[in-house]
Amino acid sequence: MVKAYAPASIGNIGVGFDVMGLAIDQPGDDVIVRKSDNKGIRITLMTGDEGKLPYETEKNTAGMAVLRLVEHLDLQGIGLDIEVHKHLPLGSGMGSSAASAVAAVVAVNELLGAGLSKHELLPFACAGEAVASGSVHADNVAPSLLGGITLIRDNYTYDIHNLNIPAGLYVLIVHPAIKILTSEARAILKEHVPIKQFIQQTANAASFVLGLQKNDFALIGRALRDVVIEPQRAQLIPGFYEVQAVAMAAGALGCSISGAGPAIFALFEGNSSVQEVGTAMQKVFAAHNISSNIYVSPVNEKGAVLC
Ligand code: HSE
Repeated sequence: MVKAYAPASIGNIGVGFDVMGLAIDQPGDDVIVRKSDNKGIRITLMTGDEGKLPYETEKNTAGMAVLRLVEHLDLQGIGLDIEVHKHLPLGSGMGSSAASAVAAVVAVNELLGAGLSKHELLPFACAGEAVASGSVHADNVAPSLLGGITLIRDNYTYDIHNLNIPAGLYVLIVHPAIKILTSEARAILKEHVPIKQFIQQTANAASFVLGLQKNDFALIGRALRDVVIEPQRAQLIPGFYEVQAVAMAAGALGCSISGAGPAIFALFEGNSSVQEVGTAMQKVFAAHNISSNIYVSPVNEKGAVLC
């Protein structure tokens, strides 16, 4: 038996739609795998999913990721039983589907002694995540697997790089109790970006990366402004701009939608007031009759781990 843990992640980090992501320490998903004498890949148990996730291997993000890995290893005759223990809320924008796929491939890689590196496991975890999101984008899978802040130069060749993590960078996530399907949040996006927004977003994304590399919090703060995706998706989250305003007034470097939402993330230099800012943001949601949870974390540097 092998157990692996994969952490939550913030896709996009505002300015890097589909091409940037970062991992936080908690929450995350656990996957346990065992060899079986019965041929085939099976999901035998899921907890924490409120009975909502499919047990069919091909429709389950962990199941599909393992299927693709086993095919790659040419071990189709093998029998594997998979347990998925979800601690990440579904449809939250916190990389729930990615975390299950990531933990599954890490556990199976160990169980079978396949010896693949984390980078080599990326395509299989992405194939699993694609079952839920409807497209291949590694901005949740890469940070959950590799840890840190990841930049995806290309989603198809897995040209993926870890960026510098400035000391003292803290992450706040406020997760309101509403669900948004990634596929729907993608479907509302316009096909075309006006050139003015394209210029600003390119400058912001590049400057955000530079700010990280130089440990320049002021530059990170100026750069963390999503002028393309956030204006289109904000309507999906009641009170989004009010919640964002609370974070910014309290000194957040930036605040935007985590992945496809509805979770909202904010980055901070230092963690002295982060918890209080989160509580203030929760009050805004409460005024909209929406309950919420908050998570405070440094950037997770390890990514997925064996337990
Ligand atoms: N980059 C993705 C999106 C993350 O925003 O649609 C969610 O899977």
